[in-house]
Amino acid sequence: MKVTQSYEGAIEREIFSADQIAAAIARLAGEIARDYRRRPLLIVGVLKGALYVAADLARAVAAIPDGPSEIAVDYLCVSSYGNAARSSGEVRLLKDASEPITGRNVLVVEDIIDNGLTLGYLRSLLGGRNPASLRSCVLFDKPYHRLVDVPVEYVGLQAPDAFVVGYGLDYQELFRNLPYLAQLRPEAFDDR
Ligand code: IMP
Repeated sequence: MKVTQSYEGAIEREIFSADQIAAAIARLAGEIARDYRRRPLLIVGVLKGALYVAADLARAVAAIPDGPSEIAVDYLCVSSYGNAARSSGEVRLLKDASEPITGRNVLVVEDIIDNGLTLGYLRSLLGGRNPASLRSCVLFDKPYHRLVDVPVEYVGLQAPDAFVVGYGLDYQELFRNLPYLAQLRPEAFDDR
């Protein structure tokens, strides 16, 4: 795979800096803290992409005075893209949430929404467990190719109509650790 030869050289351009991402998370945290004021909140991050955003958001919400009465954090793991740069359209639950959902205020936190199949699948899965409330938060929105009209109550930043990496988002498990969001050079894609 070409990207391993030159990690830095694989990046075409930065889309959102670490500071812009931090500002978007702070804004989302403010909205969430206000909406769940004095109520218990269960954040369910969707691995692997939301590993950073769910953690950073949980801490940002907790830092706001008079927000939720308590914040629990859980993760589940789905696979939708396999190793490809385009969605296979098939969502698989690789690891379920470990916390019970029934009667709780659940906020599903996703890294990015594209065609909406992943979030649509998760909302019907978790909604079937009778939560007290169910909302979604996505850090990056790609609204261009939606197949499922899924409600997203909290949206961070609008990403371009391109495959992006960084801040949790990967290409073949690489680039998740970039602190910013980036677009890859076309040559970086391996069409195997
Ligand atoms: P959807 O099911 O098409 O809405 O896609 C949601 C999932 O696809 C996300 O949780 C990501 O894991 C993945 N995904 C969508 N767009 C991108 C991208 O541009 N880069 C990396 N992963 C993406």
